[in-house]
Amino acid sequence: MADRSAAAAETPPPVCGPPHGEPLYEEPGPGAARCLGLYAKLAAGVTVVTARGEDGPLGMTVSAVTSLSARPPLLLACLRDGSRTLAAVRSRRTFAVHLLREEQQDLAGRFASPTTTAAERFAGTDTRQVLGVPVLAGSLAWSVCLTEDVRRYGDHHLVVGRVAAVHVGAGRPLLWHDRRFGALTEPVPDAAG
Ligand SMILES: Cc1cc2nc3c(=O)[nH]c(=O)nc-3n(C[C@H](O)[C@H](O)[C@H](O)COP(=O)(O)O)c2cc1C
Repeated sequence: MADRSAAAAETPPPVCGPPHGEPLYEEPGPGAARCLGLYAKLAAGVTVVTARGEDGPLGMTVSAVTSLSARPPLLLACLRDGSRTLAAVRSRRTFAVHLLREEQQDLAGRFASPTTTAAERFAGTDTRQVLGVPVLAGSLAWSVCLTEDVRRYGDHHLVVGRVAAVHVGAGRPLLWHDRRFGALTEPVPDAAG
């Protein structure tokens, strides 16, 4: 018969969930303003996430995008609570992520502006449908994803997408750091990966 007490002793603690009861976790913490100062120091590529809404294409600028898994191919994006794009990502179960080129700063600004309508965001940019999702022409790379999971964490939602289509082009990425757009100073190879 298995020695259950020995097995229990070897079982690692669960990897998810807050460690309630641990003294450090119960401390008040540094507060949102200081955390935002920390987040501002994260250098990130700039993307536009698009989805099909009830009345046409929707999209928003997102820097919180990360590769998550290669097998299966998964990526994740963090979208703020109340975003129109997030609502479409949830309801339509598909979305696209476009990695912007350094020349696309205006596009990034337009897709982030709270005063622009969805139609104004897409105006002047060629768009086609891939798997029913609006895909913008001219990005560094894009991917169409099937929405695998949407989970709320604080004031954002973590969206996990299963990569269903990919296009990788050439160019240099647009970056976001210290609340400013930036670009790489190193040369970037021309060849598409
Ligand atoms: C460079 C940059 C990066 C941004 N990154 C994010 C992000 O990672 N997640 C997010 O929810 N909003 C982000 N935003 C803000 C959204 O783009 C903005 O709130 C947008 O208006 C939301 O559009 P929607 O409500 O129409 O979906 C970013 C804005 C900028 C300028």
